[in-house]
Amino acid sequence: MSIDDNPALLSYTHRFPPSPEFGAAANASDPDIYDRAAADPVAFWEEFAHELDWMRPWDQALQWDCPHAKWFLGGKLNASVNCVDRHVEGKRANKAAIIWEGEPGDTRTLTYSELLAEVCKAANALKSMGVKRGDRVAIYLPMIPELAISLLACARIGAAHSVVFGGFSSESLRDRIMDCGATALITADGGWRRGGVVQLKQIADAAIAETPSIAKVAVVQRIGAEKAPVQMVAGRDAWWHDLVADASPECEPEAMDSEDTLFILYTSGSTGKPKGIHHTTGGYLTGVYATAKLVFDLKDSDVYWCTADIGWVTGHSYIVYGPLANGATCVMYEGAPDTPAKDRFWRIIEKHKVTIFYTAPTAIRTFMKWGDHLPNACDLTSLRLLGSVGEPINPEAWLWYHETIGGGRVPIVDTWWQTETGHIMIAPLPGILATKPGSATRPFPGIEADVVDEQGNSLPAGRKGYLVLRKPWPGMLRSIWGDDERYSQVYWSKFAGVYLTGDGAVRDSDGYLWLMGRVDDIMLVAGHNISTMELESALVEHPAVAESAVIGKTHDIKGQSPVAFVTVREGFTASHELGEELKKFVGQKLGAVCRPDDILFTADLPKTRSGKIMRRLLRDIAEGRVLGDTTTLADPAIVAGLRDKYASDEG
Ligand code: PRX
Repeated sequence: MSIDDNPALLSYTHRFPPSPEFGAAANASDPDIYDRAAADPVAFWEEFAHELDWMRPWDQALQWDCPHAKWFLGGKLNASVNCVDRHVEGKRANKAAIIWEGEPGDTRTLTYSELLAEVCKAANALKSMGVKRGDRVAIYLPMIPELAISLLACARIGAAHSVVFGGFSSESLRDRIMDCGATALITADGGWRRGGVVQLKQIADAAIAETPSIAKVAVVQRIGAEKAPVQMVAGRDAWWHDLVADASPECEPEAMDSEDTLFILYTSGSTGKPKGIHHTTGGYLTGVYATAKLVFDLKDSDVYWCTADIGWVTGHSYIVYGPLANGATCVMYEGAPDTPAKDRFWRIIEKHKVTIFYTAPTAIRTFMKWGDHLPNACDLTSLRLLGSVGEPINPEAWLWYHETIGGGRVPIVDTWWQTETGHIMIAPLPGILATKPGSATRPFPGIEADVVDEQGNSLPAGRKGYLVLRKPWPGMLRSIWGDDERYSQVYWSKFAGVYLTGDGAVRDSDGYLWLMGRVDDIMLVAGHNISTMELESALVEHPAVAESAVIGKTHDIKGQSPVAFVTVREGFTASHELGEELKKFVGQKLGAVCRPDDILFTADLPKTRSGKIMRRLLRDIAEGRVLGDTTTLADPAIVAGLRDKYASDEG
């Protein structure tokens, strides 16, 4: 049997059913929800839309003219009202909305009524800067409360926000501002990162020197003049604290059409310029509200912490809009996980008694590498649910997360989705489904996912193929900003009438989905389709391996041969013998065809700022090619070092 028909991942058969107590108390506890939603997905989504506050009800739930969807047509609402005002009017005025912790240890808590006042003041400040309904506002901030406030303030006055991650360069900021024609920018003097200061205003100044559309700049003072000196341009720049000091804490929210733009968020395409993913209001809010409620099982008593940056979609949907629409208490942390020490995350969980913790596999593998003694020294018993997002989670990392962080007690929700999907698409409902380490389980109710072959035919269990989505969903991207042609071409042209995710997947005999990474990350070794992810999962099962990245290198005979880049766990040493042992280990686990030809040890892997391994660069290194674009790398020095090492090892 070829490996294609017997994906190695499916050999992980442990199942973790929800405890009866968790199941009984869960927001979703009736397994019928899946059939009910499948029978009438539009009615299912409408149930959740009804739980939001609308200023005018919708006339029609869905208009689907493939590839263009409109949800809740004719309905009017305001996202900030749904995330803030309605909780103040309800019973949550004095409940903490945001518990913020700065990297240097300063903290700030905003109740829902305080958040409302801040959002209104910021909305009025934006108006005083000349921002109007329908405009675009660029936001380039560190993870401080003003970032969440800025999003909600834009939503309140009907301006679309375009957040640019605070780790991006001035060129990236410039390109994103130009693409959407933003007229105002909100930035800060700087932000803390690993004890150092990122000079955001200086970087922003370089960008806006080349973006004539920006008329006004608001600058939050996070650091102070000594460590982050700034030059304020008269007539253009103003301090945030001055703008809000003069602003009223009341601001009438705009009645937005359900299909009005809420935000644009850029995501890097595999080639060419970044894509401005365009999201609108009513459908997006319904989608993030419903998924946050059912997948994270949010209750009023929860303290919820998503470790993402608001510069990514995870932060938009699951720090700001989803949890706040549910009236949750959200922890927000400014800095790095190893500052001042490598136990910072566990200390935050202990200190704030976090109950729900949502992070990424890349972080989990880093924590594994740092050692169990760090979480073991903290009280993590407040946790009742763990989440994962961003890439496939290797079963080994899943099991570590479950045992070491969750104490073997708490469910894990592995959530698959994309910037484009807006909200979670595949994930367990934690009170209903048994989980399996490494599988994101089943599509969320109302979502129809399928695995298809090159011709678009559904594949049976056990066969790898393209993951597609067959029905429109409320939070789906409406288009690529300014490039509808590219939207149709990238997502809707390979298979008629279905959305191409770009990911590979396989279904098991229980109908559970196992994600295999981007289809570009599938190798063809001696005629076998092998996902790099399967080899990576096998490698991290070895006790010496912390993390690995596998790529296919051109090979005369086999077509491609697997090459593995490996980081070792604390207490182990990289050596030729260990390399040979790892090759044998993988060969035994997955079959000789999967045995890596080369193993290269490295202290770090090249990752994007959102933590995704840049396999394209590793392929360039392995093939001895000139390195491609490295501008989105978190640390470009890693790649240069690796290239030299690879060349000398080869030589
Ligand atoms: O390849 C999938 C991977 O991340 C891609 C989407 O990236 P982005 O738009 O940056 O959004 C990340 C946060 C939602 C997907 O196409 N991905 C995301 N979550 C998972 C995942 N792969 C496997 N399992 C996941 N849970």
